[in-house]
Amino acid sequence: MGRTDRTVDYPFLRHLHMSCAALSIALFVVRGSCQTAGWPWRRWRWLRIAPHLVDTVLLGAAISLAWWSQQYPFAQNWLSAKVVALLMYIGLGSLALRTGVSRAVQCSAFLGALLTVAYIVGVALTRSASLGLI
Ligand code: HEM
Repeated sequence: MGRTDRTVDYPFLRHLHMSCAALSIALFVVRGSCQTAGWPWRRWRWLRIAPHLVDTVLLGAAISLAWWSQQYPFAQNWLSAKVVALLMYIGLGSLALRTGVSRAVQCSAFLGALLTVAYIVGVALTRSASLGLI
């Protein structure tokens, strides 16, 4: 697999992608826990800004990895599953962090987002949309 004229350090990109994924999930867990507990996490400026920076690098590295390894969403099932689940994670994640919705909605969306991101990590590790179960 992979392009022959490699001008990028693939293992570096992979580690960057994985580190940003871990950081992104950790930052979401902190914000979601604060939000559902009613703590005003938006007061901390870094906590409002850092997730955007980390998620931009995470996605940039994801697109570069897909390009360099020639594994594309909608060509490889596991990558299609990751992209669809990522859209669900973004939707549920924004609902969990939204103000002006009931706590029940926030908590359910937070739980749903955590399950979705766990599925994404499972798909990444097994390279299988069914997590290797089928
Ligand atoms: C929250 C979203 C994401 C998380 C948590 C995540 C997590 C991971 C992890 C943990 C790995 C390493 C798996 C391993 O080799 O052991 C990985 C690899 C990979 N990810 Fe993601 N990922 C996410 C989004 C994406 C998206 C949207 C794409 C596609 C555009 C993508 C493309 C890739 C590719 C191509 C690899 C394989 C690298 C290789 O073949 O060595 N990722 N991802």
